[in-house]
Amino acid sequence: MKNILVTGGAGFIGSNFVRYMLNNTNYNIINYDLLTYSGNLNNLKDIKENSNYHFVHGDICDKDAVRKVFKEYSIDTVVNFAAESHVDRSIETPEIFVKTNVLGTSVLIDVAKENWKVKPNDKYDKEFIKGVKFLQVSTDEVYGSLGKEGMFTETTPLSPNSPYSASKASADMVVLAYHHTFNIPVNITRCSNNYGPYQFPEKLIPLMINNCQQGKELPVYGDGQQIRDWLYVEDHCSAIHTVLEKGKDGEIYNIGGNNEVANMDIVKLIINYLGKDESLIKHVKDRPGHDRRYSIDNTKITCELGWSPKYLFDDGIKYTIDWYVNNKEWMDDVISLNYLEYYKNMYK
Ligand code: NAD
Ligand code: TYD
Repeated sequence: MKNILVTGGAGFIGSNFVRYMLNNTNYNIINYDLLTYSGNLNNLKDIKENSNYHFVHGDICDKDAVRKVFKEYSIDTVVNFAAESHVDRSIETPEIFVKTNVLGTSVLIDVAKENWKVKPNDKYDKEFIKGVKFLQVSTDEVYGSLGKEGMFTETTPLSPNSPYSASKASADMVVLAYHHTFNIPVNITRCSNNYGPYQFPEKLIPLMINNCQQGKELPVYGDGQQIRDWLYVEDHCSAIHTVLEKGKDGEIYNIGGNNEVANMDIVKLIINYLGKDESLIKHVKDRPGHDRRYSIDNTKITCELGWSPKYLFDDGIKYTIDWYVNNKEWMDDVISLNYLEYYKNMYK
């Protein structure tokens, strides 16, 4: 029986992962989350009574609190989702991104080192202790931006462009340094843009679905021809599960959905599916430093670990729109005063 500390498990991907693991394994899941604006326990309402699920309210930057949870639950695996995750917010308030994403990751892996009794690496032949793992959930944004051609592989040099991606790249470096120096078994996963149920409506897809349903303007940054490689969140969860079980110590795995789509095409698809009019589209000022294109080369995880994405974008986006339409109370609850304030400032 594994005791997995899932940090940020009340957020979008974290909550989908907690549910996925409870449905597909018999592991004990300890969800450690600060419940910031994007953390929401309503995301886990249906599984909160599961005897393999435990929630602890806490900050990954608080070392004593992290130590306590490690001891209390004999943690042998960490999957670190906890982060500030929105590029636009990182342009407004970068410091919190450095604090949570870099310092928080460093606190977590340091407590893992204390608890897992790992030894400094003083030999060339690495000796990894068995049965423990630190999995850092990173992003393809650490690689920077692509032109029309090319794809990111795990050996593409890091070239982050936003305070968000710079903080994620820094966290990756901390994790790799602990692996090299202390022999901690780690993996880093770098995924592309996720979409699906329970995503906070600051991100493109739920924001457009929500605005469209309400007949509000759809704010497209610049020309809307920026391309992302969309990954259905359940595919991301199955990929992380695969890396946890089969990933080779110290390795980085890219995770992508093989679904490159331009923002404008997504917005039009949502409008048409919901039977609305394209006159809702409003071109707004572009995001500063906006990355043009991301594209993930999946070869390593597919060939070495046997994982591949199941969802085509055309299907995944329909399930996603239907989910938001059928879960209006979830959205109503999320649209708080805070969110409305954020929206007003961001799109003024
Ligand atoms: P999210 O913003 O929905 O969730 C983040 C969660 O972390 C929230 O529950 C929040 O309360 C929690 N949190 C924030 N600060 C914390 C702290 N100090 N201590 C404990 N918990 C804290 O984000 P998401 O979209 O689910 O992303 C999860 C992870 O995946 C992040 O690390 C992000 O960088 C990465 N990622 C996301 C995407 C994407 O498309 N959403 C793509 C690539 C990588
Ligand atoms: P987002 O969901 O913020 O993810 P990321 O910036 O991490 O890729 O944005 C996805 C794309 O959609 C990105 O190119 C920015 C664009 N976008 C808009 O055009 N309008 C919006 O209101 C938002 C939130 C995003």
